[in-house]
Amino acid sequence: MRDQDTQRVFLKTRSVRLSVNADRMNAQSVKQLIEQMFEERGALHYGESVTQLEHALQCASLAQQAGVGSALVIAALLHDIGHMVHDDAAAAFKEARDDHHEALGAKWLRRHFVDAVVQPVAWHVQAKRYLCLRESGYWDALSAVSKQTLVLQGGPMNEAEATRFEQQAYAQDAVMIRRWDDTGKREDAEVLPLQHFLDLVPQVVMPTVDGVLGSL
Ligand SMILES: [Fe+2]
Repeated sequence: MRDQDTQRVFLKTRSVRLSVNADRMNAQSVKQLIEQMFEERGALHYGESVTQLEHALQCASLAQQAGVGSALVIAALLHDIGHMVHDDAAAAFKEARDDHHEALGAKWLRRHFVDAVVQPVAWHVQAKRYLCLRESGYWDALSAVSKQTLVLQGGPMNEAEATRFEQQAYAQDAVMIRRWDDTGKREDAEVLPLQHFLDLVPQVVMPTVDGVLGSL
């Protein structure tokens, strides 16, 4: 083997070590995990007139209709997964506590998904606070539940917070999710089936060791 070839193999091997977590689940396993999550917890009450699954499907269907990429469609589907990954969501709502579902959701998603899925989810509550400041009439149009949770989430942003928010890499994606979040609460909405969205999951999961080695 020439020196140049040896170096190339070394660099490729090194980049695998640096970028891939050996414990990471493969795409099929992540897909099954999401499916199982909705099977077990999708019927939970969202807090308005829809279930968690109905709300997730409405948001993802709105994202699909908007023509955005797969990462943002999956982010829309999973933006409230933080409500489903812990047992305290219903109690928190009743007791008027913020369950910090956006942070819990982002933490859970970070183990499996690329940043373009994780970050819009992490910022979608801040996007609501942002829109309350920047968009006239936005607060008035919020549902009663959203107005109630807004208080727990810190209320409308101030100017300095809004400026910082606008500088975040995925701020505009988070704003889009927030708008679908506001709309996706209808009792009679037509949605695409969960399987349609599960089929997009492999496009946006983090690579595994097997996957990367297979592509070398
Ligand atoms: Fe939501």
